[in-house]
Amino acid sequence: MTDLVQNYLDRILAEHEPITEGVLADYIPELAAVDPTGFGLALSSSDGYVYRCGDADTEFTIQSVSKPFTYALALQKIGAPAVDARIGVEPTGEAFNEISVDDETKAPKNPMINAGAITAISLIPAATPDARFALIRDFFSACAGRPLEVDEAVYESERTAGSRNRAIAYMLDSFGVLDGDPDEVLDVYYRQCALKVTSTDLARMGATLARTGLNPMTGRRVIDPAVVRRTLSVMLTCGMYDAAGDWVSAVGMPAKSGVGGGIVAVLPGQLGIGVYSPRLGPKGNSVRGVRVCRSLSAQLGLHFLNVTRESRSTLRSVSDVGDGVRVYEVHGDLLFAGAEQVTRTAQRQHEEYTAAVFDVSRVDDINDAARTLLAGLAATLQTVGKHGFLVDPDGIVVPLDSPHRAAAYETVADAVAAAHTWLSTRPAAAVDD
Ligand code: DON
Repeated sequence: MTDLVQNYLDRILAEHEPITEGVLADYIPELAAVDPTGFGLALSSSDGYVYRCGDADTEFTIQSVSKPFTYALALQKIGAPAVDARIGVEPTGEAFNEISVDDETKAPKNPMINAGAITAISLIPAATPDARFALIRDFFSACAGRPLEVDEAVYESERTAGSRNRAIAYMLDSFGVLDGDPDEVLDVYYRQCALKVTSTDLARMGATLARTGLNPMTGRRVIDPAVVRRTLSVMLTCGMYDAAGDWVSAVGMPAKSGVGGGIVAVLPGQLGIGVYSPRLGPKGNSVRGVRVCRSLSAQLGLHFLNVTRESRSTLRSVSDVGDGVRVYEVHGDLLFAGAEQVTRTAQRQHEEYTAAVFDVSRVDDINDAARTLLAGLAATLQTVGKHGFLVDPDGIVVPLDSPHRAAAYETVADAVAAAHTWLSTRPAAAVDD
């Protein structure tokens, strides 16, 4: 049987094959020696299945695609406040190797330009440069799901051709932004940029971000969800440098490019994409890589602001079951907006019932904001002499191991029976007339 998705992706790759615009990066001599025709695409689903097209298993150096991952590692290791004190999160509209810092703070404007990336490396706590690089390599490898190695020739080539980055590192050092010796930090930066990856690796690394930090292939949690959220935010606004606005409008996925020809793109909650084609446009992004991402986004509807459906009513039904007992049946995703609808409706209608049963057994997902609102609803109803009963067999609101589990019922019938018992035993003064 032919694979529909594989055929579809193969066709998109083939459509872009004839494009030969762009030039190899040559400011790192070794990068000018790669095969310019290499072209790979890989897409990892959120359950870890990877579609591979063309040269999806050809290795190339990660270059700046490394930056969001090192930023994530710094956030993970020392926390957002300490990182924020040294690196901003504002898009610059400048080139990746701009010699610039924020006018006031003297900190790099964001972690996706070289100044921010070099600073991020210096923030990773380690006793020696080797130990620092080992942390970075292990972290990248955990995101890719296989051990990554350095391309020694590219490392040496960049090390000997790196005046611009030396200028940036010494400038940062002069402002007291850099933690550590500038040459040692730069050496780690060159090694990080020279790590070899394939489009498949980038798709898996992207899918790890899409899965809020859980590598779908290995099942290992590699990054905290809050760190992923911050990392994706910065990728969205700054990942494609001075082409960021066009990228967000046309493609609509947090992404990062590198002068090795790679691009990683992430559709949160859904998938990770890795593309490779080493001929670059004037802004240092892979020409075919950008075009393939544009096509994938348009043809597969991957823009993160696509609204698949307007949010449906969270309240599936409201029914009176006699003796002043009203049952609210809730379904779908109970996030803030859904919980707001439930609590607003129950509060507005409180004079129409005496006891309210909230059935959340058909709720797919819930977050802390919704839990807090529902907990507050029970307390609010009590202030007006009403009582709420919760049907929560799966522990979605009151976890199964919670000491308050007795307050949750297994079925609507159990909760209605409990409501009737409460109605018949509550103090006479509280009985409605
Ligand atoms: O700092 C450099 O020059 C490279 N090692 C990485 C730059 C890069 O990949 C920029 N991306 N488009």
